[in-house]
Amino acid sequence: MNDTQTTTRISSRIASTPPSATLAVSSRAAELRQEGVDVVDFGAGQPDFDTPVLIKDRAIEALQGGFTKYTPTGGMVPLKKAITARASEVQSFDLNPQQVVVANGAKHALFNALYCLCDPGDEVICISPYWTSYPEQIQLVGATPVILQTDAHRDYAVDPAALAEAITDRTRVLILNSPNNPTGRVYDQAELEAIAEVLRKAPQVSVLSDEIYDRLVYAPSEHIGFLRAAPDLADRVVIIGSVSKSFAMTGWRIGWSIAPLEISKAIETFQSHATSCANSFAQKGALAALLADSSINDAMVTQFDKRRLYMFSRLSSMQGIDLSEPQGAFYAFADIRSYLGKKRGETKLQDSIDFCKSCLDETGVSIVPGAAFGMNDHIRFSYATSSDEIEKGLDRFEEFIETLR
Ligand SMILES: Cc1ncc(COP(=O)(O)O)c(C=O)c1O
Repeated sequence: MNDTQTTTRISSRIASTPPSATLAVSSRAAELRQEGVDVVDFGAGQPDFDTPVLIKDRAIEALQGGFTKYTPTGGMVPLKKAITARASEVQSFDLNPQQVVVANGAKHALFNALYCLCDPGDEVICISPYWTSYPEQIQLVGATPVILQTDAHRDYAVDPAALAEAITDRTRVLILNSPNNPTGRVYDQAELEAIAEVLRKAPQVSVLSDEIYDRLVYAPSEHIGFLRAAPDLADRVVIIGSVSKSFAMTGWRIGWSIAPLEISKAIETFQSHATSCANSFAQKGALAALLADSSINDAMVTQFDKRRLYMFSRLSSMQGIDLSEPQGAFYAFADIRSYLGKKRGETKLQDSIDFCKSCLDETGVSIVPGAAFGMNDHIRFSYATSSDEIEKGLDRFEEFIETLR
């Protein structure tokens, strides 16, 4: 018998990292569905539409034509060109294809950028409510997340004075996300300029501008690329983009960073050792998406807009539910403070997690707890599901809150 004891251990970096909270909710919803429960899923972080046929066709052709080998690590050149052609327009700034690194989705591009910008002990400012993976990614690269709280009653605007106060000598990165997940908020030019003004006094801070929902913005709101508001900061701005949400391509895993050359080279070196290039034929599909005319996502945006207006009007008419009108992405973020501390039967709902768990178990309506985004008294609804489902789910949700005592 072997008397040597196995001493495997999980690294402390990952042992203290919880799994993605949003994925946890969808798994529970999937489990209930398998048990036969009629679940209405407001948890989805992805369009319910299928990828447009034109995009699929180009990827199929690529596969059949033998486009199945490695591409250059940073992505195939025509795709990089298409990425910068559009980004240059959005940013009103001339961007160069060499600044692009194509990655396995925006999540990967964000991780690459954080890995290349931060050393252990550095600080990264995250604006709360934030997308759920930012703080975890920051910790995974050994840096410390510094949370800058915003307030629903000030429409989640960043207070420039509070931002200035949060910046220290150790601050390396500020993460911005507009259109925002979870609030649906879209920053306007004046707000971005006010943020830029603070950053001019902090040359050690780079900006990671996550603009993956840039095409999902509803009139009269307009997406403003960070460089359009602050072109003079171009040597420290990394823009993150992706085809996942705008073209219903979440499973294709194509996203990118557009960074100053020095940062871009570092990202490419890191990616060359960590994961190599992104999937070759998925890059062909992404290229088709970017070259297609805008009608390819117009229909999707029109649908989302209808659902957004319906969801906003229903939720804001419900007793004790408070929210601002979402302007972009496909989420509504609602304040449920007036229901916390109440009971459903014998179960006391202390926070957003108790609330969402009870709502899912009792009514089959799946909503994401605000705790996943740094606000434990809010919940996030996704309207990336059909109008009929939205109506049914909101009816059940309304009945649920009426039973809380
Ligand atoms: C704000 C934000 N950034 C990044 C991502 C990751 O996108 P991708 O699927 O391209 O990795 C998401 C996905 O939900 C997101 O909401």
